[in-house]
Amino acid sequence: MNWKEIQDKAREKLSPICKVCPVCNGVVCRGQMPGMGSVGTGASFINNFQALANYKLNLRTLHDVREPELSLEIFDYKLDQPVILGAVAGGKLNLNDCITEEELADNWLQGAQMGGVLGMTGDGPDPALYETGLNAARKYPGIAIPIIKPRPQKEILTKIKDAEKAGAIAVGIDVDAAALIHKNITGLTVEPKTLDQLKEIVESTRLPVILKGIMTVEDALIACEAGVAAIVVSNHGGRALDHCPGTAEVLPQIAGAVREKITVLIDGGIRTGLDVLKCLALGAHAVVVGRPPTIAAIGGGAEGIKVMLDNFKADLRKTMILTGTKDVKSVSREILYK
Ligand SMILES: Cc1cc2nc3c(=O)[nH]c(=O)nc-3n(C[C@H](O)[C@H](O)[C@H](O)COP(=O)(O)O)c2cc1C
Repeated sequence: MNWKEIQDKAREKLSPICKVCPVCNGVVCRGQMPGMGSVGTGASFINNFQALANYKLNLRTLHDVREPELSLEIFDYKLDQPVILGAVAGGKLNLNDCITEEELADNWLQGAQMGGVLGMTGDGPDPALYETGLNAARKYPGIAIPIIKPRPQKEILTKIKDAEKAGAIAVGIDVDAAALIHKNITGLTVEPKTLDQLKEIVESTRLPVILKGIMTVEDALIACEAGVAAIVVSNHGGRALDHCPGTAEVLPQIAGAVREKITVLIDGGIRTGLDVLKCLALGAHAVVVGRPPTIAAIGGGAEGIKVMLDNFKADLRKTMILTGTKDVKSVSREILYK
């Protein structure tokens, strides 16, 4: 099974909701939500992709880098490469009902395990959604990061306890979903979070807490003050607020402010190992991917995700050699062309 075969299969199953474009850049699916697209004009998704495309790489081959080091530790887990599978849920609504929630969550974590990385699981208005992620976490202990919607405080605290019992390695809140309610969904209350609420969340658990959906230095500093272990620089793949800058545009300032204190992750439009290295050069410790593993799971199950991760890894390794980068832990900004 190669990537082209996986894409073809996924295209059949996802049609007409997602065209599985050769380049997944948010143009064709702009404004298509629910679905695989983005809100409003689609600018946030498109900006994510474009911001990365705008960074160019300096080709350098006169050096001694032969076997670059791709692995790194996050949350005491040794990632095979600096990539984490993002949280993707709501198959009925978003994915043409072509894969069950159970299948998606199982493939997700099995694929993550096969590829030596971690996997986030999602949450939604139907309580079964979060539960399905936890069931998969129980099957693949120590690699799941359940991401909880910014629900009322009590609900979050209970769900974190459930994640602990399910053997999660960390837990997160997609704070950018503070107003994310599809028109045709009811029954889920979400809200912005204050510093005090965040502190209470962090203090309630022994698990590292991640805030997903940070787009400004100000919010990154609040996250630090609350004591979180990591942030994901993210605009929810363009699914929260229209007209956001691309995540790779805001990453350098945010990483500059907090990288020495907490783990900085980024998602949005990351499609290849080249994009991974660009993000590391811009200050991220590791990246998160959403749509690529979704296409992979639909077109090829857990094996499809492994193929996707292998492709990322091969690309990353090659790009590290061709930019003279020894180690993913210290990637020079100088590899980017000014
Ligand atoms: C169909 C779909 C469902 C998603 N569901 C969730 C979710 O339940 N929780 C969450 O935090 N993010 C969710 N996301 C956002 C992703 O976790 C991630 O932020 C985004 O997809 C990254 O951008 P990329 O797809 O361009 O890689 C979803 C994204 C998609 C496309």
